[in-house]
Amino acid sequence: MFLSRLLLWVFSTMRKKTAVLLTCILGLLFFTFNMWHVLSLDSRRDCPDVIPLRNASRPLVYAAFGRKLESGYLEHVFTLLERAGYIRGTFSSNWDVLWSYEYPFRVLKDHLMNLQQHQKVNHFPGSGYITNKVNLATSGLPHVPVAFKIPEQKTELISYGKKNPESLFVQKSNNHRGIKIQPLAKLDLKTPGTFVQEYVRKPLLIDGHKFDIGVYIIISSIEPLRVYAYDGDILFRFCPEKYHPFDENKVDKYVIGDDYLPIWNVSSLKPYYSNLGFGMKESFNAYLHSIGKDPKIIWHQIDEALRSMLLRRELSLVSASAKFASSRNFFEMMRVDFVVDEDLNVFIMEANMSPNLSSQHFPPNRLLYEQVIFNVLKLIGIIPSGGKNSVGNYDELLSQPEVAHKDLAVFPERCLAARCADCSKLECKLCKPCLTDSLKSVLIEAFREHTRRHLCRRIVPPSLLPEEIEHGVNVEGLTEINQLMHQWFHGKCLLESSWC
Ligand SMILES: *[C@@H]1O[C@H](CO)[C@@H](O)[C@H](O)[C@H]1NC(C)=O
Ligand SMILES: *[C@@H]1O[C@H](CO)[C@@H](O)[C@H](O)[C@H]1NC(C)=O
Repeated sequence: MFLSRLLLWVFSTMRKKTAVLLTCILGLLFFTFNMWHVLSLDSRRDCPDVIPLRNASRPLVYAAFGRKLESGYLEHVFTLLERAGYIRGTFSSNWDVLWSYEYPFRVLKDHLMNLQQHQKVNHFPGSGYITNKVNLATSGLPHVPVAFKIPEQKTELISYGKKNPESLFVQKSNNHRGIKIQPLAKLDLKTPGTFVQEYVRKPLLIDGHKFDIGVYIIISSIEPLRVYAYDGDILFRFCPEKYHPFDENKVDKYVIGDDYLPIWNVSSLKPYYSNLGFGMKESFNAYLHSIGKDPKIIWHQIDEALRSMLLRRELSLVSASAKFASSRNFFEMMRVDFVVDEDLNVFIMEANMSPNLSSQHFPPNRLLYEQVIFNVLKLIGIIPSGGKNSVGNYDELLSQPEVAHKDLAVFPERCLAARCADCSKLECKLCKPCLTDSLKSVLIEAFREHTRRHLCRRIVPPSLLPEEIEHGVNVEGLTEINQLMHQWFHGKCLLESSWC
């Protein structure tokens, strides 16, 4: 009041021109003060104590484990975690994510036995059941070339060789390096720990080069099993030398090593990849169309092969995880390598538990690796999505906006019918009155993953064919929890097609 009276008095004693001038000066001062205030608020955002933290008392922390980490082969993993707001800690800190290049469950066992709910590790106990080369080769799974354990299956191998005199073989071991094609007579049938596998003859060639197809997959859950394939791109690697004239002494013609030929050096693919900017997968698809072949034949078999491999091994992972507090702390990203023959038959070559994510040798691969890692972190929920993580019981959680009871509900007609008054029937267990807490937690995670999947595509439970959407999915041979998981996705698909 006093100030305004004073101002009025000052104004009244001045001439008009002076009053206008003074008003301008006061206005300018007011504006400057405001700008200063806004700017100083802005610069405060850089202070560490106003970075949004998940629980106000501490930042998100990751730890890493592996030999010679300082050489930088996990650089892209660290970069993406740090971009998502994580800082690097040690195993003994209260970390949120452990990224381990090696299999961690022997060396770090004590750290991993009793993990808390918020902690995630990038491997499952027992993941070697999937990636072990001897196990995989001799599994008898579809799409795996015939193989024989040495020395145990020596006689079978010899009689197979007699029946198939055209066959060529490669001898491999778990540490792989230096494989070479051999006729049966030249193989070493004594050394234990190795296996002999039939060589895929007549591989499909592009510009005369043999190649392999590396598919990145993510196991987000076991019991029930949920697996996604990263669909944003696929790694194609070519042999450095042309396949013909064939010479089994020149492994650069048929083995893909670290020094492979990259896609941008393959002239039939380069126009799509380099000039038009497609990824490796779409460049390959476009090329295959251009020579009158249908790439869907390949992708379909790859999905099938992955599904049967993973479902076959799930129970081994379940029992290996049983010693740990919960399998919910674990996830796994692997790269599964395939070769294709002239008739577009697909064969699994190997599954890598820690695929190479270093672009030091081939810098253009940086984007591929970063996108793979980004999609993994997002799918698993390691990149914070803003939702509440682990507070309250399931019914409290389901009253939060991220995922609610209505988002889990499926099969309205079946669940309304009188037959579902009895919750012991499998077909009724997904109905709200029958949902147990443990099933709720499974469905909440499945729902969240679906919303976080970005460029990942679900391969287990598989996407539904039109006849399955209409008549229901075949769940024969699956464990009960897997049956329920498959049916839930079917139920969601009937409500909304993005779930199919
Ligand atoms: C990853 O692959 C590159 C070749 O692309 C190779 O130089 C490097 O040694 C590999 N790193 C690891 C950790 O295997
Ligand atoms: C491979 O491609 C790169 C980039 O296009 C090029 O610089 C290089 O000379 C090529 N190498 C060969 C062996 O063709």
